[in-house]
Amino acid sequence: MGSIFQAAKKDESLAQLDRMSSGALKRVIAEEGFKGSKGQILQFQFSGKGQVKRIILVGLGAAKVSSAHCRTIAVRTARHARRFTSIALILPQTDIPAVRAAAEGLLGGSYLYDRYFSESKKPKTKLNRAVLLVDKSQNTPELERALQEGAIIGGAVNFARDLVNCPPNDLTPTALADAAKQACDQVGAKCKIYNKKEIQNMGMNLLLAVNRGSAQEPRFVHMSYKPAQAKKRIVFVGKGITFDAGGLCIKPSKAMLDMKCDMAGAAVTIGVVVAAAALRLPVEVHGLVASTENMTGADAYRPGDVFTAKNGKTVEIINTDAEGRLVLADALSYADELEPDLLIDHATLTGACMVALGPRRAGFFSNSDDIAQSYIVAAEQQDEMYWRMPLDTDLRELLKSSIADMKHCDGPYGGTITAALFLKEFIGKNKWVHVDIAGPAFLETMHGDTPKGGTGFGIRTALEYLRSIA
Ligand code: BES
Ligand code: MN
Ligand code: ZN
Repeated sequence: MGSIFQAAKKDESLAQLDRMSSGALKRVIAEEGFKGSKGQILQFQFSGKGQVKRIILVGLGAAKVSSAHCRTIAVRTARHARRFTSIALILPQTDIPAVRAAAEGLLGGSYLYDRYFSESKKPKTKLNRAVLLVDKSQNTPELERALQEGAIIGGAVNFARDLVNCPPNDLTPTALADAAKQACDQVGAKCKIYNKKEIQNMGMNLLLAVNRGSAQEPRFVHMSYKPAQAKKRIVFVGKGITFDAGGLCIKPSKAMLDMKCDMAGAAVTIGVVVAAAALRLPVEVHGLVASTENMTGADAYRPGDVFTAKNGKTVEIINTDAEGRLVLADALSYADELEPDLLIDHATLTGACMVALGPRRAGFFSNSDDIAQSYIVAAEQQDEMYWRMPLDTDLRELLKSSIADMKHCDGPYGGTITAALFLKEFIGKNKWVHVDIAGPAFLETMHGDTPKGGTGFGIRTALEYLRSIA
């Protein structure tokens, strides 16, 4: 990320560029019918010998300009400029939220997952320098700080995308835990990894039940960032299923194909802790990740099995494909022991959530109306789509078991809600937010500013919320 240079007033920038092109730019705008409608892009090539070789105009539509628009400009510009090495950006608005969003968008827009391309397929050039042009009077340390913050947030989102996109043969639970540790080390956050033996000693029998069918060891990760001045302690929990074959209740092959994305909640959790530490937010932030594969090995857990959760409750297994709530249950019990002011879990939990809300909106639950309200405001500011769902307690009877304290799932009706109600049994007396990101965590095709594959959905909103309570 570059520094801020001075330039002409932004409302004059188009006229100035037009003068530099001896009027050619305005002519092309007319010829191409560029109206600046939302998402419209115009690329213009300069023929002269000057420093500026290309201009990219990004249409925003008629709406009032917001920091979300500035992110869009940055994402679209970076995306279109991917094969160039350097760009300069002129924003219609240069306050701190807009600049932060733009810096984050520049990173987001230049994202490409090319780790598994061999040399011949790897892009030859990469965008490695971006400059933001602002008025000289605005070139302040605060704006410089906003740039750095945006770069940290965009970096965290891209990091989560990398984790989600990584193939499941390489991103095992062990590899996921190691990646968390490495990222924590870089920002001075603590990271303790528990191996199978230690998970057994902690009594996390639901996590172990899901792990039984896998040849890979499970991992439980506890990350923490504790600034001295913190008054609040927030604990994030993430579902870290590195591959969800469904277990013995095996998924059909089409439904299994993208199930490397089933650790996206863990990726969000790691991204949030690492970014909170890098941003030096004045809040204590913990991140817990419960990680295993859900496979069909000879010792796989069965429908009809009963296990005792870490908090002592007994659970009858109904469908081995409802594994996420099991690993989360033990992680939530662990979280309760940390005495949080607020518990926030992210999980690619239910296909039913996509049936209800479509593929790009998260299902949101909370047992606190106040927190729900401010969390949704944070989501709107960050342009991420959430929708609050009801914790209908009368559906709790669907989880009644004749042999154990409860069963862990039921039929298709209200599948997203019954999953949330199951989790609620493990949160103790805490205030709690549950985000079902089954849809938005992973996209089959690129949409708007969001790339195909892993998206990092949830990180921006979580960080916005943390900033709002700091
Ligand atoms: N990981 C899936 C949910 C999912 C589906 C995430 C599609 C992303 C895209 C979860 O473990 C699962 O299999 N849930 C079952 C629950 C059912 C068996 C009660 C489902 O949604 O079918
Ligand atoms: Mn499953
Ligand atoms: Zn799953």
